[in-house]
Amino acid sequence: MEERLQKVIANAGVTSRRKAEKLIEDGKVTVNGKVVRELGTKVRASDRVEVEGIALTKEEHRYFLFYKPRGVVSAVSDEKGRRVVTDYFEAIGTRLYPVGRLDYDTSGLLLMTNDGEFANLLMHPRYKVEKKYIARLKGIPEREVLQKLAKGVHLEGKKTAPAKVKMRSFDKKKEKAIVEITIHEGRNRQVRKMFESVGFPVQKLVREEYAFLNLRGLNAGEWRELTHHEVKQLKALAQFGQK
Ligand code: URA
Repeated sequence: MEERLQKVIANAGVTSRRKAEKLIEDGKVTVNGKVVRELGTKVRASDRVEVEGIALTKEEHRYFLFYKPRGVVSAVSDEKGRRVVTDYFEAIGTRLYPVGRLDYDTSGLLLMTNDGEFANLLMHPRYKVEKKYIARLKGIPEREVLQKLAKGVHLEGKKTAPAKVKMRSFDKKKEKAIVEITIHEGRNRQVRKMFESVGFPVQKLVREEYAFLNLRGLNAGEWRELTHHEVKQLKALAQFGQK
């Protein structure tokens, strides 16, 4: 299989794709001994790629299930100096990045990997990976409100796809409800916006499940490595769709 040079460099863990493009344009990259400055250049696994005279080594792919705490940015760096998800993986010694994102103030299940192809596969909207969120709401929505959310609401002019919505519990005295919602889209702050659109602001949001994975056994800030079987299952699910 052929792949774009900048992607191959990024996937080898040398640097980000954008910085790899800069290295290529600056003439710091050679393919089979020749300087290549063309960004679209495709290379094969058998090609010898060197960056500043050092050959790329194939990095072993790693996959983690992370319980992101609230107050952490789903990114590899933050210009405001806030804590980022990769801070929790310093001991791993590999350049990991999150598969998609959770808001700063949302906690829960986030996959982390250095396998760019895997991340792109799972993040592609075509694959409809289901994610279950638990939302604590201000107020107690009626059945009809939950049905409306399940059918889809308009956010920024576009209707949300059908969702599974279920009341988990409510407290009449405190005027609060805990609602489960399962969606497969990943629009920006989607769950918060969905509840807001029907008049029930989210006070707390946790992503409890991602496809068949859950947070069992982990506390916020902890992670575990996915098993080979889980990785295989995720790849299969992305390719063949969720049951
Ligand atoms: N929906 C949200 O509102 N926030 C998230 O972090 C994820 C989904």
